[in-house]
Amino acid sequence: MKMTREQKYRMIEQAEPGEIASLEEKVEQCHWRQVFHIQPPTGLLNDPNGFSYYQGEYHLFYQWFPLGTDHGMKYWYHLKSKDLVTWNSAGIGIAPGDYFDSHGAYSGSALEHEGKLYMLYTGNARDEDWIRHPYQCMAVMDENGHITKWEHPVISNVPEGYTDHFRDPKLWKDGNSFYCVIGAQRTNLTGCAVLYRSTDLRTWQFEGELCTGLESFGYMWECPDYFELNEAGVLVFSPQGLEPSGDENHNIYQSGYVIGKPLDTGTRRLEHGAFHELDRGFDFYAPQTMIDPQGRRIMVAWMGLPDIEYPTDPNGWAHCLTLPRELTLHEGKLLQRPIPELTTLRRNREDRVADTLFSESKTYEGFTGTAYELICEVDLLSAKVFGIEFRASETEKTVIKYNAVSRKLVLDRSQSGEPVATSYGEVRQCSWDKDHIKLHLFVDTSSVEIFVNDGEEVFTSRIFPHPESDEIRFFADKGEALFQAVKWDFT
Ligand code: FRU
Repeated sequence: MKMTREQKYRMIEQAEPGEIASLEEKVEQCHWRQVFHIQPPTGLLNDPNGFSYYQGEYHLFYQWFPLGTDHGMKYWYHLKSKDLVTWNSAGIGIAPGDYFDSHGAYSGSALEHEGKLYMLYTGNARDEDWIRHPYQCMAVMDENGHITKWEHPVISNVPEGYTDHFRDPKLWKDGNSFYCVIGAQRTNLTGCAVLYRSTDLRTWQFEGELCTGLESFGYMWECPDYFELNEAGVLVFSPQGLEPSGDENHNIYQSGYVIGKPLDTGTRRLEHGAFHELDRGFDFYAPQTMIDPQGRRIMVAWMGLPDIEYPTDPNGWAHCLTLPRELTLHEGKLLQRPIPELTTLRRNREDRVADTLFSESKTYEGFTGTAYELICEVDLLSAKVFGIEFRASETEKTVIKYNAVSRKLVLDRSQSGEPVATSYGEVRQCSWDKDHIKLHLFVDTSSVEIFVNDGEEVFTSRIFPHPESDEIRFFADKGEALFQAVKWDFT
């Protein structure tokens, strides 16, 4: 049931007696709760925020509306981890409710400075006429883990030329200057990112727009993230309003990046190549990156999309975050690899198989499950198609396959179980032209992340199968395929 505006913009203290307990009960009864992904205790999770390393721990927050699965009053929910795999809940990180974030503590980022963690986020405020007033606000975490919001925002206005869609500051430091990029909409209703500079994190100077080659590229850019990798400049952002074309842009909104020379912060010029989507699957949005103590660039994203209903909504919760992935640069593209720490999820039991398939589909001892890691390497000999059906039963299956005729990798969730967002299609695919394929799957109760050839492509998707759909089948069509696979259960 959809909530009214009044119900959506309630603080957690304003919940009816028993409301949270009843949500918790519904959540507990849900058979799609995840085993090894970050998910909300109740309510809706969206963007990852404030991803950082501070005082020997990783910190990760997410956008959280506790009281339902609508996009209502957003909090920052706080998690901590020593290894990016096991996350401990630290409760509410930033609560909204001041004049500058009266209708939500929206997305933002974190940066350590002089022993404290500074969190710059967007305060979403609405006036009596429901007109939005975005503020950029600061909250600071001290050595004891206490988070204090500053009394007033650090940026209180939207510069001339932009609408009230002005949010999601991403911080970084360069020399003695701090910078942030903010996602914006121009008054001509096109999207862009703008740059601010500060020397003390308190006073921020509007520098102007990032000058990219993407003058008219969607109507809003959410969650921009700028960083440098191997001396290249990378701008990641989530544009809204792109038209589907070929295999691209089939989700309601996109997330992707451009790569070029490092940003010239003086001229704000970013010379770059083509826009690439980060993910080939159905559910991936608003990624955020951080650099860790080993110098790795690590990315986490929301495994979901705005403005789409999900099958867990009736159970009082929605969405999860993706697994952390390390980004590296290869031939002008970003590779995304699951971080090696994830191997600690593996239990002792390991199942292996090596076989040659000839126009057939086969199952193997030990190859079943609902939460596991699976690595499969295949060489197509004469087969036209090789694939894996997983979370399968007589009536359900999710399929990842390579079609050597069309030269496409295909993810098909048309028979995955409870349907999701079917008006946006039930198949996602991308071009692929290598006969040696490594498929690295992380399957959880209601999701799959598939890394192809060590992160050259990734398919990230929610799926909502019956709990008993646990079969794994390997198949080859019209010819021969040689493969080997190894699997580790996570339960
Ligand atoms: C992206 C987004 C951000 C905003 C946040 C609100 O999903 O719309 O632009 O800050 O979510 O929850």
